[in-house]
Amino acid sequence: MDKKIRKAIFAGSFDPITNGHLDIISRASKLFDELQIGVLINPNKKGLFSLEERVELINACTKDLDNIKVIKFQGLLVNYCRAHGIDTLVRGVRSEADVNYELQMAHMNKELDSNIETIFLPTNKQYSFVSSSLIKEVLKFEADVKHLVPKEVLIALENKTK
Ligand code: PNS
Repeated sequence: MDKKIRKAIFAGSFDPITNGHLDIISRASKLFDELQIGVLINPNKKGLFSLEERVELINACTKDLDNIKVIKFQGLLVNYCRAHGIDTLVRGVRSEADVNYELQMAHMNKELDSNIETIFLPTNKQYSFVSSSLIKEVLKFEADVKHLVPKEVLIALENKTK
């Protein structure tokens, strides 16, 4: 009998991808046959980077991982999963505050589709304070963020803020 391919998705806004995201992606990629990185299409929220730029940056930063597929999705994440044979949602947790929010989302997603599981990976403690929003915030004041984002993102951020 053919072995079932285990597919998971790590979804988010990724505006832009950070080293914290990348750490979760590289660890989660070892746990599944295929890990999709799902970039949320949110027509109500204009980001710093366009969707295409975000996808391009994620592809560039994950080029050394061979089981990654970067996709864009709209609407409910569980609907995308159901349509694409994905049964696991991967989430990174940085802090107690994240746990509260993430648990709510996990319960809601379970309510929406009981066949889909959420797994939490603790963020590497070196990135426990890193978020895309805070990176953008401190960059406005020309803070040094080169140890917090992949080099491709640093260049893209510098180009945006020029
Ligand atoms: O970058 P974020 O804010 O951590 O990502 C949150 C995301 C995109 C995973 C979440 O907002 C999401 O799944 N949105 C799609 C719509 C949906 O399914 N909402 C119900 C979540 S319980």
